[in-house]
This record gives sequence, structure tokens and C-alpha cells, in this order.
Amino acid sequence: MGGLTYIDFLAKFGIGGAHPGGFSLTKNMLLQEKITQNSYILDAGCGTGQTSAYLYEQYKANVFGLELNPIMIEKAQNRFQDRQLPIQLVQGSIEQIPFKDETFDFVLSESVLAFVNKPKALKELFRVLKKGGRFLANEMTINKKLTSQEETEIKEFYAVDSLLLEEDWRKILKETGFHDTKLSMHPLDFVNGNTGQEFNFSANFEPELFGILNQHGNILVKYHDILSHRIITCTK
Ligand SMILES: C[S@@+](CC[C@H](N)C(=O)[O-])C[C@H]1O[C@@H](n2cnc3c(N)ncnc32)[C@H](O)[C@@H]1O
Repeated sequence: MGGLTYIDFLAKFGIGGAHPGGFSLTKNMLLQEKITQNSYILDAGCGTGQTSAYLYEQYKANVFGLELNPIMIEKAQNRFQDRQLPIQLVQGSIEQIPFKDETFDFVLSESVLAFVNKPKALKELFRVLKKGGRFLANEMTINKKLTSQEETEIKEFYAVDSLLLEEDWRKILKETGFHDTKLSMHPLDFVNGNTGQEFNFSANFEPELFGILNQHGNILVKYHDILSHRIITCTK
């Protein structure tokens, strides 16, 4: 694929709600939380900013988007400018978050931890949360231990360093210091049951990216009984 990654595909296609379960699952997850206009919220790895925009439009909260990929940043910035949303967008890594300790009431990671060093990123998310703050995530999870061949195929395609079972998530969250952890299981499916799916194509994109979309679909079909995702909520 000439070095192109799954994230390149998401960025160039401008997929909004680029996480399993899509925008509808985001809204359900947020409904369970006590978000107000006084809340400080970090959407870590915000992609094209669909959730960040919703957090401002729905709650008038103080929303901050953090994102590493320049194409994602540009698309999120355009979204916020077009809709005149006062969301602060910062380019940086979830593994080294450019905010002070105890800044946020809520920190979100919607399908971002999968792609980074999880212990490092969780430590950072924990650091920038206020005491009693809530961590909300939607992350890929495996349902059972994989053969090394299965593991290699999935890890190489998504360029991820590890695939976690639910018990691994619990362990790593506990080790980070989170408590009151709840995980709910959702199957991964190709269309995501996503009513809010958006596309915002880049003017130029490599035709090879269609191959990545195709491969993503093949992996979801092949591993439909092995790959799933969890809505994870916990408290600092
Ligand atoms: C699957 S997408 C999800 C985007 C967004 N959260 C959503 O649900 O639409 C993963 C996002 O994480 C971003 N990302 C990957 N590594 C990152 C890092 N180290 N720091 C911040 N963002 C990162 C990618 O650029 C991409 O936008």
C-alpha cells in the first residue's frame, strides 16, 4: 500500500465519527454523563471534530480538541470555523498532552488508544483530568486470545502495537489509577450501525486508499467473532 495506513485512509476520506458504533453511540455514551456548560472537556484524537462540535452545540461546554494528523486538524478547523464554534484545537500527541495537570472534567478517547502506546497515553489522560473527572472511551477489544498469525495480521493492518482483551483493559486502567470502571461490549460491524457517517474527501487522494477500505472490510468480516469494541467509562 506504499506506506499508506488506515489512519491515512480515515484522514483523506475525512471520515467523521471514525469509531465503531459511530455518532449514535457517542451520543448515547455522553447522555449517561453530567456534562454542563461549565465542563472542561478534552476530545483527545478528535479526528475531523464531529464529537467536539456536538459537545459544544449540545452542552455549550468548554471543548478542546487534540489531534496529531495535519489533515484531520485542517478538516476539524474548517468544521469549527464554518459553524463558528469556539473550540480550541491543538496539534499534539495523546502520549504527551500539551495541557497542565488537572485541567479537564472529562477526557474522551474515541478509537484513539488503539493506535498509540496505551500505558503512556492513559497516564497522560489521567494526569490532565481533575480529581473526580471522567474518562470516556470507545476502543477496539479482542474477545479471545489470538493465534500469532491472527494477531500479526490485525496489528500490521491497523499499525497498532497491541490488542487487548477486556481483562487487559481493566488491568491497565486500574494500574493507571482509575476506579469505578465500567465496560460494555459492542460488536464491530462494517457499517457501524452509524446513522451519522460523514465523508469530507481531500481534493487529492491516492487510489490505493480504496484498497485500505477494502482490506478493513475484509478484516471485519474475517474476524467478526474475535474483534469487538468497548465503551469504557471510569473516574479519576
Ligand atoms: C480512528 S480515528 C478516530 C477519530 C475521532 N476520535 C473519531 O471518533 O472520529 C483515530 C484518530 O486518532 C488520531 N491519532 C493517532 N495517534 C495519535 C496521537 N498520538 N495523538 C493524538 N491523536 C492521534 C488519528 O490521527 C485519528 O484522527
